[in-house]
Amino acid sequence: MPRSQAETANSFHDFEPDDQDFLSAILKGLSQPQKFIASKFFYDEAGSQLFEAICQLEEYYPTRTELGILERHKGEMAALAGSQCHLVEFGSGSSIKVRILMDALDKPLVYVPIDISRDHLALSAADFARRFPAVTVAAICADYTSDFELPPITDGQYVGFYPGSTIGNFTPEDATGFLRRVKNKLNGGGFLIGVDLVKETAILNAAYDDKKGVTADFNKNLLHRCNRKLAANFDLTQFDHRAFFNETESRIEMHLVSTCRQDVTISGRCFSFEAGESIHTENSYKYTIGGFQELALNSGFTPVKVWTDADQLFSVHYLAAD
Ligand code: AVJ
Repeated sequence: MPRSQAETANSFHDFEPDDQDFLSAILKGLSQPQKFIASKFFYDEAGSQLFEAICQLEEYYPTRTELGILERHKGEMAALAGSQCHLVEFGSGSSIKVRILMDALDKPLVYVPIDISRDHLALSAADFARRFPAVTVAAICADYTSDFELPPITDGQYVGFYPGSTIGNFTPEDATGFLRRVKNKLNGGGFLIGVDLVKETAILNAAYDDKKGVTADFNKNLLHRCNRKLAANFDLTQFDHRAFFNETESRIEMHLVSTCRQDVTISGRCFSFEAGESIHTENSYKYTIGGFQELALNSGFTPVKVWTDADQLFSVHYLAAD
C-alpha cells in the first residue's frame, strides 16, 4: 500500500547556532590562561570537507574500522533496534555510516539527522531521502549539545546513533552529563555508539598528525574561519599544528602553536601570543571497553552488547536507555 503524503513528509528544523555564539565562545576561550577553542567549531563547510578527507587517510584507522564493524554486525544491531525504529544520528555529517544500518533495519522508519553544519546537513538529508524513499527524513540543524526537541513518536522506539567516537571530544565528566541527557531523550530506546580504544601511542599519534598534513589543515581551518566570520587577522603561517597522546589523561590533544610572539585582533579585541604558546583545539579521549561501559552505567544506560574489530582498535556499543 502506498504511504500517505503525511507519513512521508520530510522536514528540516533549523536551530543553527549564529556567528554571535561563535564569537562569544572564541573571545571567552582565548581569554583563558590556556587558550581554548571547542572542537565543535571545526565543522563549518570547509571543516566538514576536510574532516571527510581525514576519514580517507591511511593513518586515520577509526572510520574504516568502524565501517567494518557495522558491516559485519549490522544484523545483530538491527535486531536490537527493533522494527520501525526512529534512528536519531547525533552529528550526522554526510550520513554515510548510517547507510550500512539501513540495509539491515526493518523499514519503514524515520531518520533524524542532527548536525551543526546547515548547508552540509541540507545536502546530506536530501541525498539520503533520494536513496531511501520509504524513510521519512526529519533533519534538525542544531548543536546537539544544546537543547532541541526530537519529533514525537507513536510507534517503534528511538535508537540513537553516535558513530565516529565523537564522544571522545568530551571530558569523561562532560560525556557523563551528555549521555544522561541523551538517555532521557531516547525515552526507553537504545543507543548505538562508536568508541575509539586505547592502543599503542605511535598509532594514535600518526592518526592525528598525518603525512599529507590534512589534519593540520583541518586544525588551521579554525583560524581561517575566525578570519572569515569574526573579522580576525590570524596569520596561518605563524601557527603550527601539534597533536600528541597524553597518556595520563588517555586523550589525544590537538593544539595550534604560535611560532613567534604576536598579537591577533578578533572583532576589535586584541590577543597576545608568546612564542610557543598554544590554543588547545581538541581532546579525543580513548577508552578501554570496561572503562566506557562504566561511564555508560554512570550515565544511566545499561550496556547490552559490544562489538570490536580483530585488532581491538575500535568498539561499537549498544546501550539500553531503560
Ligand atoms: C570526529 C571527534 C571523532 O577525534 O578522531 C579527527 C575528529 N580530529 N582528526 C576524532 C578528528 C582530528 C574526530 N572525531
